[in-house]
Amino acid sequence: MTGTGPSRLGDALGLYLHWPYCARICPYCDFNVYRPKGNDEALLAAILTDMSDWRARTGDRPLASLHFGGGTPSLMKPDWIARVIETAERLWGFAPGIEIGLEANPADQARFAAIGSVGVGRLSLGVQSFDDTVLAALGRDHDAARARGAVDAALSAFSRVSVDMIYAQTGQTVEAWTRELGEALASGASHVSAYQLTIEPGTAFGKRTERGETLAVDGDSAADLYEATQALCVSRGFPAYEISNHARSPADQSVHNRIYWEGGDWIGVGPGAHGRLGRSTMDGRIATTACRRPADYIAAVSRSGSGVGDGQLERLTPDDDLVERAFLGLRVTDGLDLGHLRVTTGRSLNGDGIDRMVKDGFLHRADSRLQLTAQGRLLADRVTREVLP
Ligand SMILES: C[S@@+](CC[C@H](N)C(=O)[O-])C[C@H]1O[C@@H](n2cnc3c(N)ncnc32)[C@H](O)[C@@H]1O
Ligand code: SF4
Repeated sequence: MTGTGPSRLGDALGLYLHWPYCARICPYCDFNVYRPKGNDEALLAAILTDMSDWRARTGDRPLASLHFGGGTPSLMKPDWIARVIETAERLWGFAPGIEIGLEANPADQARFAAIGSVGVGRLSLGVQSFDDTVLAALGRDHDAARARGAVDAALSAFSRVSVDMIYAQTGQTVEAWTRELGEALASGASHVSAYQLTIEPGTAFGKRTERGETLAVDGDSAADLYEATQALCVSRGFPAYEISNHARSPADQSVHNRIYWEGGDWIGVGPGAHGRLGRSTMDGRIATTACRRPADYIAAVSRSGSGVGDGQLERLTPDDDLVERAFLGLRVTDGLDLGHLRVTTGRSLNGDGIDRMVKDGFLHRADSRLQLTAQGRLLADRVTREVLP
Protein backbone atom coordinates (compact mmCIF):
# COMPACT_ATOMS: atom_id res chain seq x y z
CA MET A 1 0.00 0.00 0.00
CA THR A 2 1.06 3.57 -0.38
CA GLY A 3 1.95 5.95 2.43
CA THR A 4 2.85 4.99 5.93
CA GLY A 5 0.03 2.53 6.65
CA PRO A 6 0.49 -1.09 7.59
CA SER A 7 2.15 -2.96 4.76
CA ARG A 8 1.50 -6.33 3.10
CA LEU A 9 -1.50 -7.26 5.17
CA GLY A 10 -1.82 -10.30 2.93
CA ASP A 11 0.51 -12.05 5.40
CA ALA A 12 -1.38 -11.04 8.55
CA LEU A 13 -3.85 -13.09 10.61
CA GLY A 14 -7.22 -11.65 11.55
CA LEU A 15 -10.05 -12.90 13.75
CA TYR A 16 -13.61 -12.06 12.72
CA LEU A 17 -16.46 -12.60 15.19
CA HIS A 18 -20.01 -12.47 13.85
CA TRP A 19 -22.66 -11.40 16.38
CA PRO A 20 -25.91 -12.16 14.54
CA TYR A 21 -28.51 -10.33 16.62
CA CYS A 22 -30.16 -6.99 15.80
CA ALA A 23 -32.84 -5.12 17.74
CA ARG A 24 -34.74 -4.96 14.49
CA ILE A 25 -34.05 -6.18 10.99
CA CYS A 26 -33.56 -3.44 8.38
CA PRO A 27 -35.58 -3.96 5.17
CA TYR A 28 -32.51 -3.78 2.87
CA CYS A 29 -30.15 -6.04 4.84
CA ASP A 30 -29.24 -9.58 3.77
CA PHE A 31 -26.51 -10.24 6.33
CA ASN A 32 -26.93 -13.29 8.58
CA VAL A 33 -29.12 -11.55 11.17
CA TYR A 34 -31.82 -12.55 13.66
CA ARG A 35 -33.91 -10.99 16.39
CA PRO A 36 -32.41 -11.85 19.84
CA LYS A 37 -33.43 -15.32 20.95
CA GLY A 38 -32.45 -15.20 24.62
CA ASN A 39 -29.55 -17.61 24.03
CA ASP A 40 -26.85 -14.91 23.89
CA GLU A 41 -24.88 -16.27 26.82
CA ALA A 42 -24.82 -19.77 25.27
CA LEU A 43 -23.69 -18.20 21.99
CA LEU A 44 -20.86 -16.36 23.72
CA ALA A 45 -19.70 -19.60 25.38
CA ALA A 46 -19.83 -21.41 22.01
CA ILE A 47 -17.79 -18.66 20.34
CA LEU A 48 -15.09 -18.87 23.05
CA THR A 49 -14.89 -22.66 22.58
CA ASP A 50 -14.74 -22.27 18.79
CA MET A 51 -11.83 -19.83 19.20
CA SER A 52 -9.84 -22.43 21.18
CA ASP A 53 -10.52 -24.99 18.47
CA TRP A 54 -9.20 -22.60 15.80
CA ARG A 55 -6.06 -21.91 17.80
CA ALA A 56 -5.12 -25.58 17.47
CA ARG A 57 -5.36 -25.30 13.65
CA THR A 58 -3.62 -21.96 13.10
CA GLY A 59 -0.65 -22.49 15.36
CA ASP A 60 1.20 -19.64 16.96
CA ARG A 61 0.49 -16.53 14.87
CA PRO A 62 -0.23 -13.17 16.54
CA LEU A 63 -3.41 -11.37 15.51
CA ALA A 64 -3.15 -8.14 13.50
CA SER A 65 -6.90 -7.57 13.72
CA LEU A 66 -9.81 -8.61 15.93
CA HIS A 67 -13.13 -7.48 14.48
CA PHE A 68 -16.61 -7.72 16.00
CA GLY A 69 -19.06 -7.60 13.08
CA GLY A 70 -22.68 -8.35 12.61
CA GLY A 71 -25.48 -8.07 13.03
CA THR A 72 -25.08 -5.68 15.89
CA PRO A 73 -22.16 -6.50 18.20
CA SER A 74 -22.81 -3.27 20.14
CA LEU A 75 -25.69 -5.30 21.68
CA MET A 76 -23.06 -7.49 23.41
CA LYS A 77 -22.48 -6.72 27.07
CA PRO A 78 -19.11 -4.93 27.50
CA ASP A 79 -17.83 -7.67 29.81
CA TRP A 80 -18.59 -10.27 27.11
CA ILE A 81 -16.54 -8.20 24.66
CA ALA A 82 -13.80 -8.09 27.30
CA ARG A 83 -13.87 -11.90 27.62
CA VAL A 84 -13.47 -12.33 23.86
CA ILE A 85 -10.54 -9.89 23.79
CA GLU A 86 -8.81 -11.57 26.76
CA THR A 87 -9.35 -15.03 25.26
CA ALA A 88 -7.99 -13.95 21.86
CA GLU A 89 -4.90 -12.45 23.46
CA ARG A 90 -4.30 -15.56 25.58
CA LEU A 91 -4.72 -17.91 22.59
CA TRP A 92 -2.82 -16.08 19.83
CA GLY A 93 -1.22 -12.98 21.31
CA PHE A 94 -1.56 -9.57 19.69
CA ALA A 95 0.76 -8.14 17.03
CA PRO A 96 2.01 -4.63 17.87
CA GLY A 97 -0.66 -2.07 16.98
CA ILE A 98 -3.44 -4.66 16.64
CA GLU A 99 -6.74 -3.17 15.46
CA ILE A 100 -9.66 -4.14 17.71
CA GLY A 101 -12.79 -2.93 15.93
CA LEU A 102 -16.53 -3.21 16.49
CA GLU A 103 -19.61 -2.37 14.41
CA ALA A 104 -22.25 -0.40 16.29
CA ASN A 105 -25.75 0.96 15.93
CA PRO A 106 -26.37 4.57 17.02
CA ALA A 107 -29.14 3.28 19.34
CA ASP A 108 -26.48 1.64 21.55
CA GLN A 109 -24.51 4.83 22.28
CA ALA A 110 -25.05 4.57 26.05
CA ARG A 111 -22.70 1.53 25.96
CA PHE A 112 -19.90 3.14 23.93
CA ALA A 113 -17.79 4.36 26.87
CA ALA A 114 -17.87 0.90 28.48
CA ILE A 115 -17.06 -0.80 25.16
CA GLY A 116 -14.09 1.55 24.68
CA SER A 117 -12.86 0.89 28.22
CA VAL A 118 -12.47 -2.88 27.63
CA GLY A 119 -10.03 -2.43 24.73
CA VAL A 120 -12.00 -1.74 21.54
CA GLY A 121 -10.07 1.02 19.74
CA ARG A 122 -12.06 1.47 16.53
CA LEU A 123 -15.81 1.89 16.22
CA SER A 124 -17.63 1.61 12.93
CA LEU A 125 -20.97 3.35 13.33
CA GLY A 126 -24.05 2.61 11.21
CA VAL A 127 -25.24 6.19 10.73
CA GLN A 128 -26.51 5.52 7.15
CA SER A 129 -27.95 9.05 6.74
CA PHE A 130 -28.25 12.45 8.40
CA ASP A 131 -31.72 12.99 6.90
CA ASP A 132 -34.78 11.93 8.93
CA THR A 133 -36.84 11.15 5.82
CA VAL A 134 -34.09 8.91 4.37
CA LEU A 135 -33.60 7.16 7.72
CA ALA A 136 -37.34 6.45 7.95
CA ALA A 137 -37.38 5.13 4.37
CA LEU A 138 -34.43 2.84 5.25
CA GLY A 139 -36.43 1.52 8.23
CA ARG A 140 -33.79 2.63 10.74
CA ASP A 141 -34.63 2.94 14.43
CA HIS A 142 -32.69 6.21 14.89
CA ASP A 143 -33.16 9.74 13.61
CA ALA A 144 -30.51 12.27 12.53
CA ALA A 145 -30.23 13.88 15.98
CA ARG A 146 -29.51 10.48 17.52
CA ALA A 147 -26.94 9.74 14.82
CA ARG A 148 -25.14 13.02 15.61
CA GLY A 149 -25.18 12.22 19.33
CA ALA A 150 -23.81 8.75 18.61
CA VAL A 151 -20.90 10.13 16.55
CA ASP A 152 -19.99 12.48 19.43
CA ALA A 153 -20.24 9.64 21.96
CA ALA A 154 -18.05 7.47 19.72
CA LEU A 155 -15.43 10.20 19.25
CA SER A 156 -15.02 10.56 23.00
CA ALA A 157 -14.79 6.78 23.62
CA PHE A 158 -12.63 5.48 20.72
CA SER A 159 -9.36 6.57 19.15
CA ARG A 160 -10.66 5.76 15.64
CA VAL A 161 -14.23 6.24 14.41
CA SER A 162 -15.70 5.28 11.06
CA VAL A 163 -19.14 6.32 9.80
CA ASP A 164 -21.18 4.04 7.46
CA MET A 165 -23.45 5.84 4.99
CA ILE A 166 -25.91 4.48 2.40
CA TYR A 167 -26.75 6.43 -0.77
CA ALA A 168 -28.64 6.06 -4.06
CA GLN A 169 -32.14 5.60 -2.62
CA THR A 170 -34.78 6.51 -5.15
CA GLY A 171 -35.26 10.26 -5.54
CA GLN A 172 -31.92 11.17 -3.96
CA THR A 173 -30.29 14.11 -5.73
CA VAL A 174 -26.56 14.80 -5.93
CA GLU A 175 -27.14 17.97 -3.87
CA ALA A 176 -29.01 16.14 -1.08
CA TRP A 177 -26.41 13.34 -0.94
CA THR A 178 -23.40 15.65 -0.93
CA ARG A 179 -24.99 17.58 1.98
CA GLU A 180 -25.27 14.35 3.98
CA LEU A 181 -21.84 13.04 2.97
CA GLY A 182 -20.36 16.46 3.77
CA GLU A 183 -21.75 16.16 7.29
CA ALA A 184 -20.20 12.70 7.68
CA LEU A 185 -16.80 13.99 6.47
CA ALA A 186 -16.97 16.97 8.86
CA SER A 187 -18.19 14.90 11.82
CA GLY A 188 -14.73 14.24 13.28
CA ALA A 189 -14.67 10.61 12.07
CA SER A 190 -11.42 9.68 10.34
CA HIS A 191 -12.97 7.05 8.04
CA VAL A 192 -16.19 7.01 6.02
CA SER A 193 -17.72 4.04 4.19
CA ALA A 194 -20.20 5.18 1.52
CA TYR A 195 -22.24 2.21 0.26
CA GLN A 196 -24.54 2.36 -2.70
CA LEU A 197 -27.93 0.89 -1.73
CA THR A 198 -28.10 -2.65 -3.07
CA ILE A 199 -31.49 -4.28 -3.45
CA GLU A 200 -30.87 -7.82 -2.22
CA PRO A 201 -33.21 -10.65 -3.25
CA GLY A 202 -35.21 -12.04 -0.33
CA THR A 203 -35.10 -8.86 1.76
CA ALA A 204 -38.18 -6.68 2.35
CA PHE A 205 -36.77 -4.21 -0.21
CA GLY A 206 -36.17 -7.09 -2.63
CA LYS A 207 -39.82 -8.19 -2.33
CA ARG A 208 -41.14 -4.64 -2.77
CA THR A 209 -38.95 -4.27 -5.88
CA GLU A 210 -40.36 -7.54 -7.28
CA ARG A 211 -43.85 -6.08 -6.80
CA GLY A 212 -42.85 -3.14 -9.01
CA GLU A 213 -41.70 -0.46 -6.56
CA THR A 214 -38.57 1.56 -7.37
CA LEU A 215 -36.40 1.89 -4.26
CA ALA A 216 -32.98 2.68 -5.73
CA VAL A 217 -31.86 5.16 -8.39
CA ASP A 218 -31.07 3.99 -11.93
CA GLY A 219 -27.56 3.22 -13.18
CA ASP A 220 -26.81 6.67 -14.62
CA SER A 221 -27.88 8.48 -11.45
CA ALA A 222 -25.88 5.99 -9.38
CA ALA A 223 -22.78 6.78 -11.47
CA ASP A 224 -23.36 10.53 -10.93
CA LEU A 225 -23.72 9.98 -7.18
CA TYR A 226 -20.57 7.83 -7.13
CA GLU A 227 -18.57 10.47 -8.98
CA ALA A 228 -19.86 13.20 -6.64
CA THR A 229 -18.82 10.98 -3.70
CA GLN A 230 -15.27 10.63 -5.00
CA ALA A 231 -14.92 14.35 -5.75
CA LEU A 232 -16.22 15.49 -2.36
CA CYS A 233 -14.17 12.94 -0.41
CA VAL A 234 -10.97 13.93 -2.21
CA SER A 235 -11.63 17.66 -1.71
CA ARG A 236 -12.18 17.08 2.03
CA GLY A 237 -9.00 15.02 2.42
CA PHE A 238 -10.63 11.55 2.50
CA PRO A 239 -9.27 9.75 -0.61
CA ALA A 240 -10.71 6.33 -1.45
CA TYR A 241 -8.47 3.39 -0.58
CA GLU A 242 -11.17 1.00 -1.81
CA ILE A 243 -14.25 1.50 -4.00
CA SER A 244 -16.55 2.43 -1.09
CA ASN A 245 -14.06 3.27 1.65
CA HIS A 246 -12.36 6.57 2.43
CA ALA A 247 -9.78 7.40 5.08
CA ARG A 248 -8.08 10.57 6.18
CA SER A 249 -4.66 8.87 6.28
CA PRO A 250 -3.22 5.38 5.72
CA ALA A 251 -3.26 4.85 9.51
CA ASP A 252 -7.04 5.44 9.48
CA GLN A 253 -7.67 2.62 6.99
CA SER A 254 -9.34 -0.53 8.29
CA VAL A 255 -6.84 -3.34 8.91
CA HIS A 256 -9.71 -5.84 9.12
CA ASN A 257 -11.01 -4.89 5.66
CA ARG A 258 -7.57 -4.81 4.12
CA ILE A 259 -6.73 -8.34 5.29
CA TYR A 260 -9.89 -9.44 3.48
CA TRP A 261 -9.31 -7.46 0.27
CA GLU A 262 -5.59 -8.30 0.08
CA GLY A 263 -6.06 -12.04 0.43
CA GLY A 264 -4.75 -12.46 3.98
CA ASP A 265 -5.73 -15.14 6.47
CA TRP A 266 -8.59 -14.71 8.87
CA ILE A 267 -10.54 -16.96 11.18
CA GLY A 268 -14.32 -16.61 11.30
CA VAL A 269 -16.20 -17.44 14.50
CA GLY A 270 -19.89 -16.96 15.29
CA PRO A 271 -22.95 -18.00 13.22
CA GLY A 272 -22.37 -17.84 9.46
CA ALA A 273 -18.89 -16.31 9.80
CA HIS A 274 -16.57 -16.88 6.84
CA GLY A 275 -12.85 -17.49 7.15
CA ARG A 276 -9.87 -18.02 4.84
CA LEU A 277 -6.65 -19.75 5.77
CA GLY A 278 -3.68 -20.30 3.52
CA ARG A 279 -0.42 -20.00 5.38
CA SER A 280 -1.38 -22.32 8.24
CA THR A 281 -2.46 -25.17 5.97
CA MET A 282 -0.05 -27.49 4.19
CA ASP A 283 -1.44 -27.09 0.68
CA GLY A 284 -3.75 -24.47 -0.78
CA ARG A 285 -6.18 -22.07 0.80
CA ILE A 286 -9.25 -23.17 2.71
CA ALA A 287 -12.58 -21.36 2.89
CA THR A 288 -14.65 -21.95 6.01
CA THR A 289 -18.26 -21.07 6.83
CA ALA A 290 -19.65 -21.58 10.31
CA CYS A 291 -23.22 -22.90 10.72
CA ARG A 292 -25.56 -20.03 9.89
CA ARG A 293 -28.36 -20.39 12.43
CA PRO A 294 -27.32 -19.52 16.01
CA ALA A 295 -28.93 -22.69 17.45
CA ASP A 296 -27.12 -24.87 14.87
CA TYR A 297 -23.83 -23.11 15.58
CA ILE A 298 -24.20 -23.66 19.35
CA ALA A 299 -25.12 -27.33 18.73
CA ALA A 300 -22.16 -27.86 16.37
CA VAL A 301 -19.71 -26.42 18.90
CA SER A 302 -21.10 -28.54 21.72
CA ARG A 303 -20.87 -31.64 19.51
CA SER A 304 -17.42 -31.17 18.00
CA GLY A 305 -15.79 -28.09 19.56
CA SER A 306 -16.02 -26.30 16.19
CA GLY A 307 -18.74 -24.06 14.71
CA VAL A 308 -17.88 -25.24 11.20
CA GLY A 309 -20.28 -28.07 10.44
CA ASP A 310 -19.90 -30.83 7.86
CA GLY A 311 -19.12 -29.68 4.34
CA GLN A 312 -18.44 -26.07 5.27
CA LEU A 313 -14.71 -26.38 5.05
CA GLU A 314 -13.71 -26.22 1.42
CA ARG A 315 -10.29 -26.34 -0.18
CA LEU A 316 -10.20 -23.59 -2.82
CA THR A 317 -8.77 -24.63 -6.17
CA PRO A 318 -5.96 -22.34 -7.40
CA ASP A 319 -8.42 -21.01 -10.03
CA ASP A 320 -11.11 -20.21 -7.41
CA ASP A 321 -8.45 -18.55 -5.28
CA LEU A 322 -7.25 -16.46 -8.23
CA VAL A 323 -10.80 -15.30 -9.07
CA GLU A 324 -11.51 -14.30 -5.48
CA ARG A 325 -8.21 -12.46 -5.09
CA ALA A 326 -8.75 -10.63 -8.40
CA PHE A 327 -12.29 -9.46 -7.52
CA LEU A 328 -11.27 -8.24 -4.07
CA GLY A 329 -7.77 -6.97 -4.87
CA LEU A 330 -8.85 -4.81 -7.80
CA ARG A 331 -11.30 -2.95 -5.53
CA VAL A 332 -8.34 -1.57 -3.60
CA THR A 333 -7.11 1.79 -4.95
CA ASP A 334 -3.46 0.65 -4.89
CA GLY A 335 -4.49 -2.28 -7.03
CA LEU A 336 -3.65 -5.91 -7.33
CA ASP A 337 -0.04 -7.09 -7.01
CA LEU A 338 0.34 -9.45 -9.96
CA GLY A 339 3.61 -10.91 -8.66
CA HIS A 340 2.04 -11.75 -5.30
CA LEU A 341 -0.97 -13.23 -7.11
CA ARG A 342 1.31 -15.55 -9.10
CA VAL A 343 3.24 -16.63 -6.01
CA THR A 344 0.11 -17.31 -3.92
CA THR A 345 -2.02 -19.07 -6.56
CA GLY A 346 0.51 -20.33 -9.13
CA ARG A 347 -1.78 -18.75 -11.76
CA SER A 348 -1.84 -15.56 -13.82
CA LEU A 349 -4.56 -13.32 -15.20
CA ASN A 350 -5.38 -13.15 -18.89
CA GLY A 351 -2.70 -10.96 -20.52
CA ASP A 352 -4.82 -10.14 -23.61
CA GLY A 353 -7.74 -9.09 -21.40
CA ILE A 354 -5.43 -6.85 -19.36
CA ASP A 355 -4.01 -5.22 -22.52
CA ARG A 356 -7.54 -4.60 -23.85
CA MET A 357 -8.77 -3.07 -20.58
CA VAL A 358 -5.64 -0.88 -20.33
CA LYS A 359 -6.13 0.30 -23.95
CA ASP A 360 -9.83 1.07 -23.30
CA GLY A 361 -8.95 3.14 -20.22
CA PHE A 362 -10.45 0.86 -17.55
CA LEU A 363 -7.16 -0.35 -16.06
CA HIS A 364 -3.78 1.15 -15.35
CA ARG A 365 -0.64 -0.95 -15.07
CA ALA A 366 2.27 0.28 -12.96
CA ASP A 367 5.15 -2.21 -12.64
CA SER A 368 3.56 -5.35 -11.26
CA ARG A 369 0.42 -3.61 -9.95
CA LEU A 370 -2.87 -3.48 -11.79
CA GLN A 371 -5.26 -0.68 -10.83
CA LEU A 372 -8.77 0.29 -11.87
CA THR A 373 -8.93 3.78 -13.38
CA ALA A 374 -11.70 6.18 -12.32
CA GLN A 375 -13.72 4.93 -15.30
CA GLY A 376 -12.94 1.30 -14.42
CA ARG A 377 -14.14 1.71 -10.84
CA LEU A 378 -17.66 2.40 -12.13
CA LEU A 379 -17.66 -1.05 -13.79
CA ALA A 380 -15.34 -2.90 -11.42
CA ASP A 381 -16.91 -6.36 -11.60
CA ARG A 382 -17.25 -6.28 -15.39
CA VAL A 383 -13.65 -5.16 -15.86
CA THR A 384 -12.45 -7.89 -13.48
CA ARG A 385 -14.30 -10.57 -15.46
CA GLU A 386 -12.46 -9.40 -18.60
CA VAL A 387 -9.04 -10.16 -17.10
CA LEU A 388 -9.81 -13.60 -15.67
CA PRO A 389 -8.06 -16.49 -17.43
C1 LIG B 1 -23.49 -5.46 8.71
S1 LIG B 1 -23.90 -3.79 8.80
C2 LIG B 1 -23.42 -3.57 10.50
C3 LIG B 1 -23.70 -2.20 11.08
C4 LIG B 1 -24.86 -2.04 12.03
N1 LIG B 1 -25.56 -3.24 12.28
C5 LIG B 1 -25.82 -1.03 11.46
O1 LIG B 1 -26.61 -1.42 10.60
O2 LIG B 1 -25.80 0.10 11.89
C6 LIG B 1 -22.61 -2.99 7.91
C7 LIG B 1 -23.02 -1.93 6.93
O3 LIG B 1 -23.43 -2.48 5.71
C8 LIG B 1 -24.19 -1.54 4.99
N2 LIG B 1 -25.28 -2.24 4.30
C9 LIG B 1 -25.97 -3.29 4.73
N3 LIG B 1 -26.87 -3.69 3.79
C10 LIG B 1 -26.73 -2.85 2.73
C11 LIG B 1 -27.36 -2.74 1.44
N4 LIG B 1 -28.34 -3.57 1.07
N5 LIG B 1 -26.95 -1.76 0.61
C12 LIG B 1 -25.95 -0.93 0.98
N6 LIG B 1 -25.33 -0.99 2.18
C13 LIG B 1 -25.71 -1.93 3.04
C14 LIG B 1 -24.68 -0.52 6.01
O4 LIG B 1 -24.10 0.73 5.77
C15 LIG B 1 -24.19 -1.09 7.34
O5 LIG B 1 -23.83 -0.08 8.23
S1 SF4 C 1 -28.19 -3.14 8.64
FE1 SF4 C 1 -27.25 -3.53 10.62
S2 SF4 C 1 -28.93 -3.27 12.14
FE2 SF4 C 1 -29.87 -3.45 10.16
S3 SF4 C 1 -30.36 -5.63 10.02
FE3 SF4 C 1 -28.39 -5.33 8.97
S4 SF4 C 1 -26.85 -5.72 10.51
FE4 SF4 C 1 -28.82 -5.43 11.59
